[in-house]
Amino acid sequence: MIICTKQETMLVSQGLFLKRQYFIYGRVLGLLTILVALIAIVCNHFGNSESASYLRMAYDMKTLEDNFRAKNESCFILGASGETGRELLKEIVSRQIFSRITLIGRRKLTFEDKSYQSLVQEVVDFEKLDDYSAAFQGHDVGYCCLGTTKAKAGTEGFIRVDHDYVLNSARLAKAGGCSHFNLESSKGADKASGFLYLRVKGEVEADVEKLGFERYSIFRPAVLLVDRQESRPAEWLARKFLGPLSTMFPTAMSIPITSVVRAMVVNTLIAGEKRVEIIENNAVYNLGKVAEK
Ligand SMILES: NC(=O)c1ccc[n+]([C@@H]2O[C@H](COP(=O)([O-])OP(=O)(O)OC[C@H]3O[C@@H](n4cnc5c(N)ncnc54)[C@H](OP(=O)(O)O)[C@@H]3O)[C@@H](O)[C@H]2O)c1
Repeated sequence: MIICTKQETMLVSQGLFLKRQYFIYGRVLGLLTILVALIAIVCNHFGNSESASYLRMAYDMKTLEDNFRAKNESCFILGASGETGRELLKEIVSRQIFSRITLIGRRKLTFEDKSYQSLVQEVVDFEKLDDYSAAFQGHDVGYCCLGTTKAKAGTEGFIRVDHDYVLNSARLAKAGGCSHFNLESSKGADKASGFLYLRVKGEVEADVEKLGFERYSIFRPAVLLVDRQESRPAEWLARKFLGPLSTMFPTAMSIPITSVVRAMVVNTLIAGEKRVEIIENNAVYNLGKVAEK
């Protein structure tokens, strides 16, 4: 017969309790993973059908680039200091498709690389943007990768940047002769959404459309997969989770940032068929793949 002390009995029951807790947590985590995977499969399935056409089209990047270069066009980038803007700039500079590139931002950027020497930089005060209308003069193509977060700027600050600054810039660009405006928006953008982020994105998309650009391309990427320089814990956590998932379902809930900027470039090179085009996450991904051919 084994006789246990009171302490030993307590330890055994504590051990059993912990074992049961781990078992429950494990099951919850397992169920959550299955749920996310299912959502991913559904998102992937519905996203795919609309965008496979890009892959079927036989684009030759070299010809596209040569033809576009011959047009001698210029562009501006808003938000070139951010993650997408920086990558976009790299892509555009390396492909040498524009005769002039202007960066419009709130601060001057420094570049070591010689290929960046010919860049024009316009430092503006977004709160008094009309005083800087000259910065927006004479560009054929405009890319807008501006944005902040509610956590960083508060609700009002977020609306100010993601809606007002974007719309004011687009208005001045239109007045300055820009014919093709590209807006980096977000997956799920919807002006009727109950979520502030998605509502503001939907509103700015619609308000820019009213300006009547000759061509207006809206990109709606999901969570950007990028090693962000700035610390954003929630995004970091999402990336840790979505990164492995993206190897199976590359566009279900996220997208590599390189796909986004390549899609922007390829889309610029291809003559647009529609005046306004909304490029959803899956189409962004497939369009980006064209640049790899
Ligand atoms: N992150 C995602 O997962 C995700 C997913 C889908 C869509 N998007 C959208 O895609 C766009 C680009 O995202 P991102 O992550 O590449 O952006 P980011 O790295 O946060 O860069 C944002 C850019 O906006 C500028 N900016 C921010 N606040 C400003 C202010 N008050 N005044 C002037 N300029 C300001 C920044 O300039 P400074 O460098 O001077 O601060 C920077 O150039 C955003 O509209 C975002 O909502 C993001």
